[in-house]
Amino acid sequence: MKISVVGGGYVGLVTAACFAELGHDVSIIDHGPAKVKSINAKKPPIYEEGLEELLKRHVGTRLRASTSYDFIPLSDLTFICVGTPPNPDGSADLSKVEAASRSIGSVLKKSGNYHVVVVKSTVPPGTTQKIVIPAVLHEAEKSEDEMGFAMNPEFLREGHAVEDFIHPDRIVIGSRNLRDAARVANAYQGLSAPFLRTGLTAAEMIKYTSNSFLATKISFSNEIGNICKKLGIDVYEVMKGVGMDRRIGPSFLDAGAGFGGSCFPKDVHALIKLAETIGEDPILLRSVIDVNEKQPGRIVQLLRARIGELKGKRIAILGLAFKDNTDDVRESRSIPVIEELLESGVVITAYDPIANPSMHKIFPTITYCSTAADALRGAEGCLVMTEWPEFEDLKEEFDLMANKVIIEGRRILSIKGGEGICW
Ligand code: UDX
Repeated sequence: MKISVVGGGYVGLVTAACFAELGHDVSIIDHGPAKVKSINAKKPPIYEEGLEELLKRHVGTRLRASTSYDFIPLSDLTFICVGTPPNPDGSADLSKVEAASRSIGSVLKKSGNYHVVVVKSTVPPGTTQKIVIPAVLHEAEKSEDEMGFAMNPEFLREGHAVEDFIHPDRIVIGSRNLRDAARVANAYQGLSAPFLRTGLTAAEMIKYTSNSFLATKISFSNEIGNICKKLGIDVYEVMKGVGMDRRIGPSFLDAGAGFGGSCFPKDVHALIKLAETIGEDPILLRSVIDVNEKQPGRIVQLLRARIGELKGKRIAILGLAFKDNTDDVRESRSIPVIEELLESGVVITAYDPIANPSMHKIFPTITYCSTAADALRGAEGCLVMTEWPEFEDLKEEFDLMANKVIIEGRRILSIKGGEGICW
């Protein structure tokens, strides 16, 4: 099939590259000339395991990037993969989705082929029906039965996006009729995963609910961890036993400094906002955020309890991104920790294998080190904030500390006697 993908971010670029891998002819449309140039030079503008190989294999033959929408009328499907960042009030900013819809509609005006527009961006229930479809049809000057629409959410984790695309647990396709669903399903031929065909709004809600439930599992584990910490019980032992129940499952039960990233906080806040606008009181979802927002403060509290007055102390922070294997610091739990330490007059030395430059943009005054040893040398305390495998190998580096107090926000070193926020 010929497929267009609007938006060359980590969802759009990975989606396009993987569709090319499945044998389709794919065009990525992005408004950033530098990003387009980078993709066409087979250099991924973002880090994703396996992505560079896919670009090297397919760019120049069945994969290309452009700033022009002209490829769309020549294709059978167009996936909207633009960002839906949070508005100040927590609701989803849909301006990019609406703009993409209008641009897609305007280039389809003269096209006689039956084209299906697929929303893959994470959007509140009702967006495809109330915003995308009217915007496309208006600009294309077409009626509802002259075009197709679908909603096909992604479940990609940063750092594992290619793996998650090629090995999905399920492929959700929301549509108004079987014809549109069948065309979208055709794009995924070759993947061995069950399809779930449903309506447009249900597909939109499945995405929000999946992310919100995963975030709930994490906040639940953190609350249990906070209780276990006071009882002297290892929460990892507890959640291991809990996760063996097939109704619960072992994943996303790791207690720690809380969840970050560009998705969980954004999606839970958007769902809270949506609930409030329809007169619902999302008590549980709000508590998921409350627990998460309090975790970073608990790690600073624990540090203060172990080393006393923080003012003037040198503290090393290992791990700056929102998780390992990425340089993305959006909503990283290290941000509120650094804020509170700076307010307490702490001198911070920080190290992350790849996220130093990203965090430097937010906190330019702290010292960024190129090795963990440099960050630890002379430090009077250390906070481990992401689960980089290399942190598990640290041994003599900790002997460089002036005061060997190690507190984990992620479970890395406790095997060697470190102390954790919840263990
Ligand atoms: C998430 C969802 O997993 C993915 O399906 C969705 O499409 C996008 O949002 P992502 O945000 O990339 O993916 O990262 P993920 O690996 O889910 O981790 C999110 C945050 O939760 C990280 O800060 C991580 O450290 C934290 N986390 C994860 C925990 O604190 N405990 C856990 O058990 C798992």
